[in-house]
Amino acid sequence: MYPLIRRILFTIPPEEAHHLTMSALKAVYEWPIGRKLLESNFNAGDYRPFEWKGLRFRHPVGLAAGFDKDGAYINSLAALGFSFIEVGTVTPLPQPGNDRPRLFRLPADRALINRMGFNNEGVHALRARLAKHRPVNLVIGGNIGKNKDTPNEEAVNDYINCFETLHPVVDYFTVNVSSPNTQGLRALQDKKPLENILHQLIRHPMQSVAYRPVLLKVAPDLTDGQIDDIAEVCRNTGLDGIVATNTTISREGLASPPSVVARLGGGGLSGRPVRDLSDQVLKKLALRVPQDVLLVGVGGIFTDADVRRKLDLGARLVQVYTGFVYEGPAMVRRIISNLQKNDEN
Ligand SMILES: Cc1cc2nc3c(=O)[nH]c(=O)nc-3n(C[C@H](O)[C@H](O)[C@H](O)COP(=O)(O)O)c2cc1C
Repeated sequence: MYPLIRRILFTIPPEEAHHLTMSALKAVYEWPIGRKLLESNFNAGDYRPFEWKGLRFRHPVGLAAGFDKDGAYINSLAALGFSFIEVGTVTPLPQPGNDRPRLFRLPADRALINRMGFNNEGVHALRARLAKHRPVNLVIGGNIGKNKDTPNEEAVNDYINCFETLHPVVDYFTVNVSSPNTQGLRALQDKKPLENILHQLIRHPMQSVAYRPVLLKVAPDLTDGQIDDIAEVCRNTGLDGIVATNTTISREGLASPPSVVARLGGGGLSGRPVRDLSDQVLKKLALRVPQDVLLVGVGGIFTDADVRRKLDLGARLVQVYTGFVYEGPAMVRRIISNLQKNDEN
């Protein structure tokens, strides 16, 4: 059924298709029979549930940041079986993001290119939504960033602002310094600014009332030297986890014609082409960071084999984005059921 729906959706520009699908999903969810149907068809059940720092994950598959930036669809997305959802990236002030079009499909590569630029309604709108509707049995992460107009020297204040506002309503934080679509943001991955931001959040006074683990989201384009630096930052700050990875700025090895790819312009590439790059970064991090740092594998997951590979490389959780767009609403249930079957054989 989904291949047919996808064919129709893929005739519509991707950003509009996203809003249309999400509005339809929400409408179905708000209708009591629709909600029951969603839950009975897409509930993934438990698979190797585990507890980490007071959070309970029913299984390892979550939804990556950027899909529900403003937390507008959390309850309906939760009905599609995710064990956790990362909302955001959110910034202190609302901002429109880059000009459209800014999201493109590369079907021949099972990929997307985006240069959204942190379009979001601002951290206060997100907080109000999460305070009103919080699904039970679902872990919620808050992915935080800086406004486009905030210079890097003042970026730490944006991260603290988002952290303080969301602290009462999320379960963990992810610090995003790896999006390629906010100019200069990736420079914050350097050791000094990074340690400063992480220190301020991990040692924030609100943490002594209720501790919210702090994770860092990294790019797949890091050099070995930068990965070493991040491992050192982990040791120096007591960072709780790493999300590996964001989208790549590389365009290597694509099946889509180079002229088509060039015409689309800049942005982050996600989906199948980022899988091996993300796996490499995950593997290197697993060998270098302290054992108790939680690794979350993201990038190019479409199947249970993709999940299994990331778990084998050292991830304890994974997230999906582009694979979900291509595979559709049954993706999580299918992955969990295949993981279960393979364990039994
Ligand atoms: C349209 C789009 C928007 C995204 N927005 C964000 C974002 O706001 N913050 C973030 O940390 N990652 C964002 N990402 C990156 C994803 O969370 C994920 O790290 C990346 O796409 C790799 O996973 P995938 O191959 O499963 O898509 C975005 C990705 C896409 C395709």
